[in-house]
Amino acid sequence: SSENADAKNLRVKLVLLGDSGVGKSCIVLRFVRGEFDTTSKVTVGASFLSQTIALQDSTTVKFEIWDTAGQERFAVIVYDITSPESFKKAQYWVKELQKHGAPDIVMALVGNKADLHEKREVLTDDGMELAEKNGMFFIDTSAKTADNINQLFEVLCISLW
Ligand code: GTP
Ligand code: MG
Repeated sequence: SSENADAKNLRVKLVLLGDSGVGKSCIVLRFVRGEFDTTSKVTVGASFLSQTIALQDSTTVKFEIWDTAGQERFAVIVYDITSPESFKKAQYWVKELQKHGAPDIVMALVGNKADLHEKREVLTDDGMELAEKNGMFFIDTSAKTADNINQLFEVLCISLW
């Protein structure tokens, strides 16, 4: 398939799922442009961006990132650590992907807005447990401070080998 045409230059599709306002667009913007937008607008329809990362063994991986649903290789489910409601929604997306997603889809669960740790209402353990039960990667991120943003995409690459 096209996603493995060249072992040294991989191309993969990725979709971001999660409640409105959890920070999906900000994570992508941080990853692709190194920026943070405090006035980020609600995404309408699909938003598409791509970014290539170089791994240690000189392989490059191009992420084609869709801010909406589809037939994807990677699914990143995002919640806001200050919002239990968004965590419930994340649990819903996990179930939906288990039911309808491609069988080989690689999933990551992301607790975003980790910089707001004083307002945290979803325990890291709860995120880790949900991820573990469903065979997903788990990571806490902050699009604001850039904490763990690159690591999120790097961790997904582990599954390409
Ligand atoms: P929809 O497009 O409606 O689905 O929302 P979204 O998930 O794309 O959220 P978006 O990226 O637009 O971010 C929503 C709000 O959260 C914005 O005001 C951002 O500035 C803020 N935000 C996003 N990420 C972070 C973060 O890591 N920390 C903090 N403190 N705020 C964040
Ligand atoms: Mg958005």
